[in-house]
Amino acid sequence: MRILIINGPNLNMLGKRDPKNYGSLTLKEINRELKHLAKGKASLKFYQSNSEGKLISFIQRHLNYDAMIINAGAYTHTSIAIHDALELFKGKIIEVHLSDVNNREAFRLTNYISSLATKTIAGLKEKGYYEAMNTLLKQ
Ligand code: DQA
Repeated sequence: MRILIINGPNLNMLGKRDPKNYGSLTLKEINRELKHLAKGKASLKFYQSNSEGKLISFIQRHLNYDAMIINAGAYTHTSIAIHDALELFKGKIIEVHLSDVNNREAFRLTNYISSLATKTIAGLKEKGYYEAMNTLLKQ
């Protein structure tokens, strides 16, 4: 199984960003644990970008992967363009948010990703990524 792990804007700042919402681990540390979980079971490709267009181009280049874990950051709430790119993706999509997006500011209630995801995990901080990975590995 080939799995993409895609992170959007400001997720490169994990470890420095509001730990109450986002936890204290860096993205590198989270990705290291994901590699550990998938070892011998799946091949992983990691991508982070702060740019909407770069995220879309990356998705377009990897449409035939089996699955993806995506945290699109704030683009979750704004990007019809990322929604449309994800519609082309053939594999399973699991959406992750470190924070509990449904119980924060009202503008975070708009979500252009969740309708395309088989599962959305929010509010578990880094454990949300691990749960997403374990869900995919169990298939
Ligand atoms: C986030 C939640 C978004 O609302 C926010 O803009 C982020 C991170 C999360 O992981 O909790 O950048 O996706």
